[in-house]
Amino acid sequence: MTTFPLEISNLSFAYPSGPEVLQGVTLSLAAGERIGLAGGNGSGKTTLLHCVVGLLRPSGGMIRAFGRECRSEPDFRALRRRVGLVFQDADDQLFCPTVLEDVAFGPKNLGQSAEEAASNARNTLDRLGLAGLENRVTYRLSGGEKRLVSLAAVLAMQPDVLLLDEPAAGLDEGSKQRVREILLGLPQAMVVISHETGFIDGLAQRVAVLRDGRILPENPSPGTPSPRGQSSLRAPKPCENGKWA
Ligand SMILES: Nc1ncnc2c1ncn2[C@@H]1O[C@H](COP(=O)(O)OP(=O)(O)OP(=O)(O)O)[C@@H](O)[C@H]1O
Ligand SMILES: [Mg+2]
Repeated sequence: MTTFPLEISNLSFAYPSGPEVLQGVTLSLAAGERIGLAGGNGSGKTTLLHCVVGLLRPSGGMIRAFGRECRSEPDFRALRRRVGLVFQDADDQLFCPTVLEDVAFGPKNLGQSAEEAASNARNTLDRLGLAGLENRVTYRLSGGEKRLVSLAAVLAMQPDVLLLDEPAAGLDEGSKQRVREILLGLPQAMVVISHETGFIDGLAQRVAVLRDGRILPENPSPGTPSPRGQSSLRAPKPCENGKWA
């Protein structure tokens, strides 16, 4: 039997005294698969990822990680050791005084020695073109720099699954291209939220669109085999402005 790194079944969620944002979301991520997650502003993309890592508790449905159903905080704590979330807002991710401390924090938390974690952090920063930022005060970085450091902080932990909430937003073309190439070179399964078709095209093997609290049905089409051994799924056609919704 195939074990999916991530399975989301019929997930529902509403913020207190608000309408249901998620109304039965079902999505499975296969090993090594890269899924683009699209949908209009406020459609619930960030909410969905926050439910997956246990920051928000759904009112119904199920999340299974590596074959194990997650219900309690200890379940989600175990999930977060293997599933790394890059927050949409970098200020939610970064909290250490310096860049190096921020990027080394996760690896250290996973049991690496201070030296190992620092070396890991330096290498990750280097790969992202951020060498030289190590001793900068994190909260004084530019928006784009903060976003890249957030990504470094998660990549340095080498999680089995990456959840990336708009990793390309606010980046210049060169940085966007570098991030895209790094993601393409990673073996990990990932869900990438992005409004930019140019970033998602060729990176994601399929695009799931969230609308009215659900994932829209996908159109199967002949193509290269996906990691599941099925034919690849065609991404929905983007709108004229080059965005997904
Ligand atoms: N803490 C909160 N309390 C109440 N409502 C919230 C809260 N956070 C988000 N919402 C609402 O939930 C809905 C989904 O928000 P969410 O941030 O998940 O959307 P999104 O698809 O990520 O949007 P965007 O593309 O703008 O990032 C929106 O209507 C938003 O206003
Ligand atoms: Mg969002």
